Formats: sequence, structure tokens, C-alpha cells
Amino acid sequence: MPKYLINFVQQYPSFRIHELESVARIFNIDVQYNKDDLEFIESLDPEIETPFLYITVNSEDDIKKICSRSVLIKSIYSVWAESTLLEGILDELHNKFDKKFLSNYMVDKTFKIDVESYGSKYNQKEKLEMMFKLKDTPLWDNGKCVMHPTEEQIDKHILWCILTDFGVERQGLVKDFAMLPRKVYFGQKIAKGNRDDIIKYNLSDRKYLGTTSMDPELSLISANMGLVKKGHFVLDPFVGTGSFILVASHFGAQTVGCDIDIKAMRKEEDCNLETNFRDHGLTSQFLGTILCDNSCPPWRWNSMFDSIVTDPPYGIRAGAKRVGYKENRKYVPVPEGLRRDHIPQCIDYSVPDVMADLLELAAKTLVVGGRLVYWLPTTPDYKETDLPRHPCLRLITASCLQILTNRWGRRLVTMEKILEYNHSIHNKSLLVQEDLGQVDPQHKDLRAVVFWRKMGSNEKSKKKEQKKQSVEKHLKEKTKNNNADVKNSNNNNENNTENQE
Ligand SMILES: C[S@@+](CC[C@H](N)C(=O)[O-])C[C@H]1O[C@@H](n2cnc3c(N)ncnc32)[C@H](O)[C@@H]1O
Repeated sequence: MPKYLINFVQQYPSFRIHELESVARIFNIDVQYNKDDLEFIESLDPEIETPFLYITVNSEDDIKKICSRSVLIKSIYSVWAESTLLEGILDELHNKFDKKFLSNYMVDKTFKIDVESYGSKYNQKEKLEMMFKLKDTPLWDNGKCVMHPTEEQIDKHILWCILTDFGVERQGLVKDFAMLPRKVYFGQKIAKGNRDDIIKYNLSDRKYLGTTSMDPELSLISANMGLVKKGHFVLDPFVGTGSFILVASHFGAQTVGCDIDIKAMRKEEDCNLETNFRDHGLTSQFLGTILCDNSCPPWRWNSMFDSIVTDPPYGIRAGAKRVGYKENRKYVPVPEGLRRDHIPQCIDYSVPDVMADLLELAAKTLVVGGRLVYWLPTTPDYKETDLPRHPCLRLITASCLQILTNRWGRRLVTMEKILEYNHSIHNKSLLVQEDLGQVDPQHKDLRAVVFWRKMGSNEKSKKKEQKKQSVEKHLKEKTKNNNADVKNSNNNNENNTENQE
């Protein structure tokens, strides 16, 4: 199988390989790579991290398909030579290839040479110097250098690329070519990743937005992890402003969303979740929204969704609520005529319960092989046993981590339904959580972790208030006692005068 070099984008190192594998699965592409390279691809250590990974696939067509979906891939190249210096590249081209082959390769073709680098930048003069060094190779003999190929030329246009990896730790230090790069690659750029969709779904261009709208890059990655594709049926049970179902519809899925809060889905008649679909020409892919509570979902126990992609509330920006009666309130049935417009009262919904209900919903309504993809808040105390589990769902990965502050972040958890749901599983699913010792998972009280400073100062002011109240109480009691003493002494005085009289 031919070998290709991926140049990943710099963000989200822990997501890259999982997105690649999911995208390959969407197109049934067999991707192979050296597992030892993962250490460097996923590393946050600038000494060893790298965005370059060699993969093998069957054909160039597979590469184009992968790039049409992956947002974490910058470009993929077919490498012809690699060295630590450009001179080494020229030597390798001369030694590895027949001169005739190189010059024949370019017959009737047009070409352009790009100079790209990682960890440092070349200026225009340096780039030109590097390009012109290639003039000594037979590749330049027959091809015609064209900056902007016409439509007729595009099929036979070759995009050569000199790609230099300086490594991130050398950033800012590279002033001249005397500094050795980690690697220089020379090859053909086969395709570039799907970064354009990030711009297409940019939040700043979206008319209807909320405080928790998911950014397009992460929405697209989530949809890729969910294997969303044309003809799929996709649900977001905590839909908010609909970021996930919007991109799922863009990939050709039929989508539906649910939310407990009508205001999250709809601000005004002409500015709401639905109008975002209209603005992107996706109305035909959008089935609608349902106002409901995910702790008692409206769906039949029926395997119907191909993917559930969601960002559940975890009480930081979007509070988790479910329909219920507050302890101190009496149950009063809603009169028949008022039921339609009745807004039920809500109570707090703990994060572990939100997650357990979500997994239960996925187990009941996903098709076997369908995926649940959701964001789980995480703290530095995270343990794998904190992950919610379900007997019908297999964990694909929870290692995609977005660090938000030094106190917390969120993980993109991907699970696959492996078993049909039945009644006997219901009780078992509760047992699984307990078996794993999930009495106190790290996401149980996230507010306390994230807002510890505020909570601290709240506690201080609470204590101050309590102290003030106790002082006031003490003073009141003292005044009362004093008044009583005064009254008693007045009475005594009166009695004494009476006695004297
Ligand atoms: C983090 S936001 C989702 C944001 C969404 N991904 C977007 O891009 O706008 C979580 C949503 O869950 C909703 N929610 C909270 N409790 C719920 C419940 N019990 N059932 C359904 N939705 C709920 C909130 O109203 C909120 O809109």
C-alpha cells in the first residue's frame, strides 16, 4: 500500500488520530500507521511533539476522501524524498529515481512549488532560493510552472511542496539556514483538509447564537467522531442553538434536536435555531425540535438514530434542570384547560444523572453500531472509572481532551452501541455505575472546582452574615434582658414605696 505523509493542524493533539480513524471508517478506508508514532503525535511536550505522521492507504482517492472530511488535517503529501537539508533532498532525487522517469513524469503537466514549514517561517526571498534549487532536477525539464491553473489544466496540475519541520522548541530561533531543521520533505501535495467548513460555519456569521454555542471546529470534529454521513438520522438531546445538528445536516444527515428551554432554541420569530438552517440552505435536512426534558425523553424504545452528538449541561454556563417538584412544594395537578401552555417547575439535575440518562437514551434509541458522542467535563483528578458506562455501549475513546483552564477542561467521549437494549439490561446499567465505584465521579460537583474562589468568598460572606445575625440576636436579647431588669427594678421600687406608705 502506498505511503503518505499527514501534516496535522497544531490544535487539539489528542483528537487528531481519533478523528482520522473515524473519518476513515466513514468511507470504509483501511488506514495503517506505526503505533509507536502516536506518542509524538499526541504529545504536548515541545521536545518530541510533531504534526507529521506517515500512513498507508490503498490509493490517492482514499487520501482525497479523508481530506474532504477531516478538519484536523492541514494537508496530505506523497513524499518523494526526505532529508535534514534541502541538498540532501536533491541528492536523494538523483539517487532514488531514474532521470528519464523524472523528466517523463512532467510531460504535458503544469506545476507549482510551495514552500511550507512548521516551527518557523521563511521569507519570500528564502522561499524563492529554495524553489530555484529544484531547477537542477529533471522534474523541471518538461513541466510548465503555472501559479493559477485553468480548469483544463487542473487535472494535470502537480503541486510540489518543500516542507520543513523545525520543531516547535526552535520557534523564534531560526534566523538563517545554518540552523538544522528536524526534517525536510519533498513531495506532491495530494489534498488539503476540510478547514473551509470551519469558516463556512463561523459563529460570528451565524445570526442565532447563545452563550454555549459550540464552535464550528469542535462541532465538525464531533460530527466526524459520530460517523455522521448522508442519509443518517442524528439527534442532539441538549440542542441549545443547534451547532451540532447544523453541521450534521451539512454532512447530509436528517437531524432533530431537543431542549428543556424554549428560549435556548428560539429567541425571536425570525432569529432562531431553524433560521440558521435556512441561512445555510439546509432546511430540507432539518426535521425539527422538541421541547422536552431528557430525564423523561419522548422517544420510543426503538433503534432509530445513527448518531447522538451532544454537549450536555454541566452547570458551568448552562445549568442542568429537569422537570420535578421542589421538596417544599405540594403536588397540585394542572387543570385540564391550562395544560397546553403550562410551564412545569424544574429542579436541579445532577451531572452524573444527566450523563446516566444520556447513556440510557443512547442504549435505547441508537442503532447497533451507532455512535454516542458527547462532551464530559473533566478535572485534573479524572480517573477512567469516572466515565459513565452502560452494558449496551462500548467506549471508543475518552482521551480527546480540551483544556479550558488549569482547573478543568472537557473530554469528547465516543461510544458505540454494541448490544440491543432489553428490559433485563435496565437494572444492570445502574449496577455498572456502582460496580465502577462511580459514587463520586470527578464531574459530580464541577461548580465547586471551577468556582472555588467565588465559593470561598461566598462562604466568607455567609459566615460574616451569620456572625452579624448572631451579634444582632445577642444585642436584642441583651436589650430585652435590660428592659426586663429595668421593669423589675421599677416594680420593686413601686412595691417599696407602697410598703413605705
Ligand atoms: C451546553 S448547552 C448546549 C449548547 C449547544 N450545543 C449549542 O451549540 O448551542 C446545554 C443545553 O441543555 C439544555 N438542557 C438543560 N437541562 C436539560 C434537560 N433536562 N433536558 C433537555 N435539555 C436540557 C439547556 O437548556 C442548554 O440549552
